[in-house]
Amino acid sequence: MFTLVTSTARMKPLFQRSFLFYFYAIAILILSIFDILACIREDDNQYTNCKKAFKCGNNISNRRIHYPFWGKNREQYCGVSNDPNMELTCEGNVSKITINSIKYRILKWYNTAQKLTVARDDYWSGICAVNVCDNHKNSTFDDNSLFQRDGDVSSQLNLLYNCDTNQSSSMIFSTTCNNIKVVYTLADPGSVTCTPTVIVEVPIMGNKVAGNATVNSINQALQGGFDLKWTGNYEECKGCVASGGTCGNNGGSEFRCFCKDGPYTTTCLSEKAPSSGKCK
Ligand SMILES: *[C@@H]1O[C@H](CO)[C@@H](O)[C@H](O)[C@H]1NC(C)=O
Ligand SMILES: *[C@@H]1O[C@H](CO)[C@@H](O)[C@H](O)[C@H]1NC(C)=O
Ligand SMILES: *[C@@H]1O[C@H](CO)[C@@H](O)[C@H](O)[C@H]1NC(C)=O
Ligand SMILES: *[C@@H]1O[C@H](CO)[C@@H](O)[C@H](O)[C@H]1NC(C)=O
Ligand SMILES: *[C@@H]1O[C@H](CO)[C@@H](O)[C@H](O)[C@H]1NC(C)=O
Repeated sequence: MFTLVTSTARMKPLFQRSFLFYFYAIAILILSIFDILACIREDDNQYTNCKKAFKCGNNISNRRIHYPFWGKNREQYCGVSNDPNMELTCEGNVSKITINSIKYRILKWYNTAQKLTVARDDYWSGICAVNVCDNHKNSTFDDNSLFQRDGDVSSQLNLLYNCDTNQSSSMIFSTTCNNIKVVYTLADPGSVTCTPTVIVEVPIMGNKVAGNATVNSINQALQGGFDLKWTGNYEECKGCVASGGTCGNNGGSEFRCFCKDGPYTTTCLSEKAPSSGKCK
């Protein structure tokens, strides 16, 4: 009786160890097969996800937004590498982008010209849409900005809040927004003789208000927006698209050309890229 107990006690751990070994071995095998399948699916997904344009309502003008932008239905790997600022949002069927912490509506995107027509979202419903106490911001596109003004680059609307002046000229106009006098001009705000509480610069296309700067025409010009150029590199994407791929990044700083059979470094005919994420 005593010997029997010790012998089974000796055998049991041995049996357990080999059972656990096989169990773990098989489990690891199954898991790695799933991993490989997930990898293949992920590679497939990158191509199909990035091939789709940014989806925001039914507006034709937004249908062709792809690389370098990402956001909503487009994963970050579908955008230009390492640039969180290229994220688009969709609000009430309108595509929007935030540049230097100012939100703009995207009115048009010209793919190959890398041009964007945008309008300030806060001034979308006119000069008086922003109150004197709101957080005012100038639109700025300095040399380091990935977006630069394009076309009619110098034209801007200057809004001078609480500007008490009786000055009248063919260039300086005024209106009243919520009992606050607002002077607006396309001319240098320094030429207005008053001490406003705040001056705001809003880019517009000057030719839209030629000669007749009524509040209505200014409000229409605000909705007409202005042009920006994306200064990033679009050449590598052109090559990729020409080879049947769709553009994106490796989740870091490198360009990727996503093709039907996985990611490539430059085009679908170039060297195959190492898979991203867990597929290393
Ligand atoms: C957005 O567009 C869809 C399809 O055209 C429409 O059904 C929906 O009501 C729109 N939503 C808004 C907030 O305008
Ligand atoms: C599409 O967007 C443009 C620019 O925002 C606007 O002028 C136009 O009315 C929109 N069209 C539709 C059908 O919503
Ligand atoms: C906008 O720029 C003008 C001119 O540089 C400046 O006087 C004004 O204070 C700026 N406004 C804001 C809100 O930063
Ligand atoms: C503008 O004109 C009004 C009425 O003529 C006058 O009361 C006001 O003081 C003038 N303001 C300035 C800044 O000259
Ligand atoms: C400016 O616009 C106003 C209102 O729309 C109009 O009555 C006036 O004739 C226009 N003036 C010129 C010079 O176009």
